[in-house]
Amino acid sequence: MEIITIKQLNQNIRQYERNEAPEGFDINNEVSLIGWVRSCRDNGKIIFISFTDGSRLNSIQLVSKDGVTQNHETLKGLRVGSSLIAIGKAVLTTDSSQQKFEIILSRVKLLKQADENFPIQKKEHSKEFLRDVAHIRTKTNTFYTSMKIRSELSFAIHNFFHLNNFVWLSAPIITSNDAEGAGESFIVTDDSDDNSFFGGVKASLTVSGQLHAEAYAQTFKRIYTFGPTFRAEKSHTSRHLSEFWMVEPEIAFCDLNQLMFLMESFIKFLIKIIQKKCYEEINFIEKNIDSTVVSRLENIVSVDFAKIEYKTAIEILNRAIAEGKTNFEDNEIYFGKDLKSEHEKFLCESLGNGPVFIYNFPSKIKSFYMKQNADGNTVGACDLLFPNIGEIAGGSQREDDYDKLMNRCRELNMSTEEIQWYIDLRKFGYYKSSGFGLGFERLIQYITGLDNIKDVIPFPRSNGVLKF
Ligand code: 4AD
Ligand code: MG
Repeated sequence: MEIITIKQLNQNIRQYERNEAPEGFDINNEVSLIGWVRSCRDNGKIIFISFTDGSRLNSIQLVSKDGVTQNHETLKGLRVGSSLIAIGKAVLTTDSSQQKFEIILSRVKLLKQADENFPIQKKEHSKEFLRDVAHIRTKTNTFYTSMKIRSELSFAIHNFFHLNNFVWLSAPIITSNDAEGAGESFIVTDDSDDNSFFGGVKASLTVSGQLHAEAYAQTFKRIYTFGPTFRAEKSHTSRHLSEFWMVEPEIAFCDLNQLMFLMESFIKFLIKIIQKKCYEEINFIEKNIDSTVVSRLENIVSVDFAKIEYKTAIEILNRAIAEGKTNFEDNEIYFGKDLKSEHEKFLCESLGNGPVFIYNFPSKIKSFYMKQNADGNTVGACDLLFPNIGEIAGGSQREDDYDKLMNRCRELNMSTEEIQWYIDLRKFGYYKSSGFGLGFERLIQYITGLDNIKDVIPFPRSNGVLKF
């Protein structure tokens, strides 16, 4: 008998209830499923098994009855995590719980009994404990949800760009440059000997695909990268990882305003896809992680993102302190300050509790490649802040003038040797270009409401932690 999935069966039964079942589907026929035991309750003559096969978040109930189910006895002592083939009939249930049907087993085949010490038992486990068993934590509903949303979101990202005629650039992982100039790269080799692996060139793991992205945008006009990036910063926060994924579009002939428009449309598109495709997961989040998820997501797709200049943000914060409306741990706010998360949080809350763009930052707190504004002290950069998360994406219009870029690198005492090719792009018809980087995990955090970034990436790496 052909094995089907719980997801298929569920769809067929819903259609059956609406008299729209596919041809050949007969509720009275037996079905065959393969998967794992989530939990098990043995009442002697009847055994109830909560059963999953990975195709859906919600498990289904298998019922084994003495005298009805052949080899009922083999299920005695069945342990959580065990795998089996279940054959039986779907029976519609009348109780009001979300479960629409259960399977009355006619036969069952225990494929592999799990060990007694299988770590994921039915009880609640802490997220910290589960991080330590990251190889099996997706067997919990929370991590199934997190990783399913992650997967749907990555397809949605590729889809958005594909639909909008962007070319995907798989940016290199090993590079000879520090794209952000922040000195936070992981070193692959720093052997300067001519006979070393890269002929004396120092190699590190990429912190951003932007420089390569800018090169490709000069041919294809609209391109994006989407892949892992690495940062050796020693921050122990719930927002930082040493290995995280970034989405980086780059568009030739695009200015800062057009870029912010793209960022907003892109994020709204992604959220709408998740609302549509992950309703079961959203439902789970609403009941178990964050009861406000539905309105939070709806808010993102329906509001216009606020936009304020950096200097206005400074004024808002200072005014709020002066009027006693808030008291930050760090009340020293001045033009040129790199805002902290408490300030970002306040800005989001005071501007409608939605996303906020801050743009035109002081050049001294931003990267070397950003477009120098005519005022002489700001650059055409924008950060997108999300409530509770803080910075979710950052972008800029790029400096397109060869001499200005070169001078900026000199001012910052940067060695330009490894990025001469990048600076040279300005000589070959580089009129204008803008792009941004979205922290993929931070967006998943916002959607799922999970407060630690380590819970939205399969095997998290952070300062001091590399178990898997
Ligand atoms: O603001 P960042 O450093 O910008 C860049 O790397 C630019 N080159 C992007 C571009 O213009 N193409 O990083 C972009 C985003 C941040 O807004 C944040 O969401 C995320 O990447 N991010 C991190 N996420 C997790 N862990 C870390 N350590 C992160 N550092 C940055
Ligand atoms: Mg940034």
